[in-house]
Amino acid sequence: MNAPLGAEVVGLDLAKPVSSDDFARIHRAHLDHHVLVFRDQRITPQQQVEFSRRFGPLQIHVLHQFALAGHPEVLIVSNIVENGKPIGLGDAGHFWHSDLSYKEKPSLGSLLHAQELPAEGGDTLFANMHLAWDTLPAHLRSAVEGRRAEHTYLARYAELQARSPWRPNLTAQQIAEVKPVVHPVVRTHPETGRKALFVSEHFTTRIVDLPEDESRALLDELFAHSVRAEHCYRHEWRAHDLVFWDNRSLMHLAAGTPDHLRRKLYRTTIEGDTPF
Ligand code: SIN
Repeated sequence: MNAPLGAEVVGLDLAKPVSSDDFARIHRAHLDHHVLVFRDQRITPQQQVEFSRRFGPLQIHVLHQFALAGHPEVLIVSNIVENGKPIGLGDAGHFWHSDLSYKEKPSLGSLLHAQELPAEGGDTLFANMHLAWDTLPAHLRSAVEGRRAEHTYLARYAELQARSPWRPNLTAQQIAEVKPVVHPVVRTHPETGRKALFVSEHFTTRIVDLPEDESRALLDELFAHSVRAEHCYRHEWRAHDLVFWDNRSLMHLAAGTPDHLRRKLYRTTIEGDTPF
């Protein structure tokens, strides 16, 4: 792949048992390349769940209403509306983010399996947050080193709700599940030791202990730097792709699907460590 991240895994059928040798190679490649693309995987949701679970416990998305029937760990990411009701979360990934960064233990990684793809659009972009850190200008580095930032699921919920049919009103219990959390602005990958910027336009609301205007201006600069074209890979989906990315190293964005075209994918997320 001609990009600063991403690799294609060739010759593996995930519908068959994955040996411990193959698993170790996948694990290594995931740490090295941050996005792995497995083409033409004819796997069931249960097989996706079982493969995902080999990397750690799975997380259940707060929008339980968009879980696949019988599979609470599978989130339906889809713009399809049937009988007036959305079948999944249609605007997942509308803003750059790292999955579940609003939890004490954000996602280690996520797997997205293509079920139905549009004839045009529907790409997913990934930004390499190690590179974003490595190339951050010195004045921004010193401005953020040692700082912490708040992440909250609700940061842009009302904004999304106003523009799309996919955001239900949250119950008191759902709101209680997504209390704001604070994480380091620069995190260390727990397995590789590499540093990465860990703020996103979707979920990061402020840098702790900075005045609001300074915090906003700094976050805007960090976001703009993170997603420079040279830090990004654009995934153009093919039928039955399974894409597995590392949320500790990357942010991602759904580039958007024309309203009249259908798109459906199944997502699993693996719980990671508390960022440090
Ligand atoms: C997500 O943010 O997990 C969804 C990405 C996509 O739909 O491309």
